[in-house]
Amino acid sequence: MADDSGVVGVVGAGVMGASLAQALTARGVATVLQDADPAALQEAAHRIAAGDRLARLTAGGSGGPADGPGRLSYVTATEELAHCALVIENVTEDARVKEALHDRLDRILDPGAVVAVNTSAIAVSGLALVTGHPERVVGAHFMNPVATSSMVEVIRTPYTAQWALDRLGALVRRLGKDSVVVADATGFVINRCLMMFINEAAAVLDDDVASPQQVDRLFRGCVGHRTGPLRTADIIGIDTIVHTLRVLTDAYGPERFTPSARLLRMVRDGHLGRKTGRGFYIYAGEAS
Ligand SMILES: NC(=O)c1ccc[n+]([C@@H]2O[C@H](COP(=O)([O-])OP(=O)(O)OC[C@H]3O[C@@H](n4cnc5c(N)ncnc54)[C@H](O)[C@@H]3O)[C@@H](O)[C@H]2O)c1
Repeated sequence: MADDSGVVGVVGAGVMGASLAQALTARGVATVLQDADPAALQEAAHRIAAGDRLARLTAGGSGGPADGPGRLSYVTATEELAHCALVIENVTEDARVKEALHDRLDRILDPGAVVAVNTSAIAVSGLALVTGHPERVVGAHFMNPVATSSMVEVIRTPYTAQWALDRLGALVRRLGKDSVVVADATGFVINRCLMMFINEAAAVLDDDVASPQQVDRLFRGCVGHRTGPLRTADIIGIDTIVHTLRVLTDAYGPERFTPSARLLRMVRDGHLGRKTGRGFYIYAGEAS
């Protein structure tokens, strides 16, 4: 970021990391995208190129983003993030994986760097406390796809410093988005509610009450949802939804959040949504 945040590091080049890197560079923000898996970086490069093409088309086919594209580099070593003033972590929704990474990031980054956690549900305080600098850790729950979503759910832990919130806020504004700052509790606001909808909508299919199309049409037509719970689930990724439901179950008990049999079968069969080309819907030739 040319103004006050320097280069932004994005850790994890899956669905969210790639989407975030694309949105950042489209706004002229210099970005380093890091993933331990070189194949994930390669896949992310394809997704980012496809996202850029789509953005140019929807902008009328002319020119690039208003700010001009920001530099984007792809790296596999966490150490390559050492110079970043703001790092946004987007690795797998698994507390142990995230904890190990935050411990590592904390040793590598300058103490003045801000660490934003992009998580669907994992309480941010627990991650902040595995580091020696919990004051610079803040939650940033971005929506997918990042480039076209207008809101970020920002999570302030009891330890988060105002300067860390301010630096994240500046980046969110630079991306053209609004934010709502909430307290830290597993699932925050959005996913504590949304995951229940998605899980129950999947169970409705197993009860032969309706088809995916019917469920989503009802949600669009009756309550004004833009996509409906099942198409939303495909965009998020069914594996990420099951991970998130497990995090919510651990925090709030099994009654509300145990993943439905339908979701578990989909994960077993590799029907993970848009990213694998098949979820509740089939996406011929557009796995992303
Ligand atoms: N998918 C969504 O719609 C969505 C929306 C908001 C937030 N999130 C959250 O964002 C995070 C990422 O989700 P996703 O859907 O992109 O997952 P994903 O499975 O698509 O990608 C995760 C990536 O993290 C990488 N990774 C794992 N451990 C790593 C490590 N130690 N260092 C570097 N890279 C590592 C993996 O190689 C993989 O490429 C999760 O916490 C998820 O809950 C997801």
